[in-house]
Amino acid sequence: MTTIAKKVFLRPVEEKDYSLFKKWFGDLEVMKYVVSHMPKDIEYTKAMWLKDYSKKNAIVFIIEIDTKPIGICGFKNIDNEMNIATFGITIGEKEFWNQGYGTEIARLLIDYGFEELKLCQINSAVFGFNIRSKRMHEKLGFEIEAKKGNSPPTQDENGKLWDDIYFTISKKDWDIKQKIARSNLR
Ligand SMILES: CC(C)(COP(=O)(O)OP(=O)(O)OC[C@H]1O[C@@H](n2cnc3c(N)ncnc32)[C@H](O)[C@@H]1OP(=O)(O)O)[C@@H](O)C(=O)NCCC(=O)NCCS
Repeated sequence: MTTIAKKVFLRPVEEKDYSLFKKWFGDLEVMKYVVSHMPKDIEYTKAMWLKDYSKKNAIVFIIEIDTKPIGICGFKNIDNEMNIATFGITIGEKEFWNQGYGTEIARLLIDYGFEELKLCQINSAVFGFNIRSKRMHEKLGFEIEAKKGNSPPTQDENGKLWDDIYFTISKKDWDIKQKIARSNLR
């Protein structure tokens, strides 16, 4: 259920944020949805994340609710020739889960991707057991892409294996869905 009452902002990563990375990336309850293997230790997890997100073809934002940093989001694998990128969101402060913030943040990020980065398609991969993330993608209008078949299934905390789900949305579909959403508000 969406109960957003506070303002969501995205801002660049600053030096002071690295202590928060330690907290968020060290929390197995958060990380089980983000990496396919449990982190060996906090530094390893941080290095994994930064390996992906500190490259030139990536852009990362800190998510703030009012002035409180609650997580990290951004794009990786930005392909400037195909105008495609992969997006990701991690709300590290768990008390902010399930209140509509993830969907709101994703909207900001998708708008940024299509309008500022001039992307024409945004992709995303979700572990099959990540109910909140699957629902968030559905609410945003993502479609499930034909299964890529390359990645092995991911194990949940009970040892059950789940296929990863690959979502995609084009700028054309996003624009149509936004127009419909606006017309429903009248
Ligand atoms: C995934 C994540 C970004 C989603 O953000 P969020 O703010 O929690 O999600 P929202 O509140 O916008 O939407 C969650 C939806 O899941 C639904 N949901 C939650 N638990 C559910 C359950 N057990 N069964 C069915 N639906 C459920 C909520 O009801 C809501 O849908 P609704 O608005 O239709 O009621 C956030 O939970 C998070 O960062 N999780 C940890 C890291 C992660 O999973 N990152 C994504 C990796 S792909």
